[in-house]
Amino acid sequence: MKPGIANGLLTALLLMPLASVSAGDSAKDNYDTYCVQCHGLTGDGLGVNVPDMSVQPRDHTDGQDMSSRSEKDLFDAIKGGGQAIGKSTLMPPWGDNLNDGEIHDLVAYLRELCQCQHGKAK
Ligand code: HEC
Repeated sequence: MKPGIANGLLTALLLMPLASVSAGDSAKDNYDTYCVQCHGLTGDGLGVNVPDMSVQPRDHTDGQDMSSRSEKDLFDAIKGGGQAIGKSTLMPPWGDNLNDGEIHDLVAYLRELCQCQHGKAK
């Protein structure tokens, strides 16, 4: 087999799982595609990247912590990255990948994960 063909096959194989999770555009699909590698499959902040990170990703299931953030804080953190709200640049900006509507939906999804509202931990 020519190296080019082998590479093409390998690329196709590598892309397959990604294609299947990004097929939908619901907030959960976006979270599962863009966020879980750091924030964890269940949003608990224990993603696969964590052992290599000097700043721990937010635990999105921590109602106490998450209720101290306003919707705007969360929106700005997702759109502009940690830097936009004076936090670590290890939280990347997503404004180029996600539109404002998708980011709003993600904020709503985070409220489901934490089962909290701003100022109210439940
Ligand atoms: C490369 C790893 C990484 C990825 C991918 C990532 N994050 Fe983060 N995120 C972080 C880290 C690290 C922090 C903590 C920053 C800090 O405390 O200084 C964080 C913090 C946050 C915060 C909390 C900001 C606050 O007020 O404390 C939100 C909200 C957030 N991330 C949402 C998301 C969403 C939604 C996605 C997917 C679209 C995502 N993150 C993808 C690493 C990541």
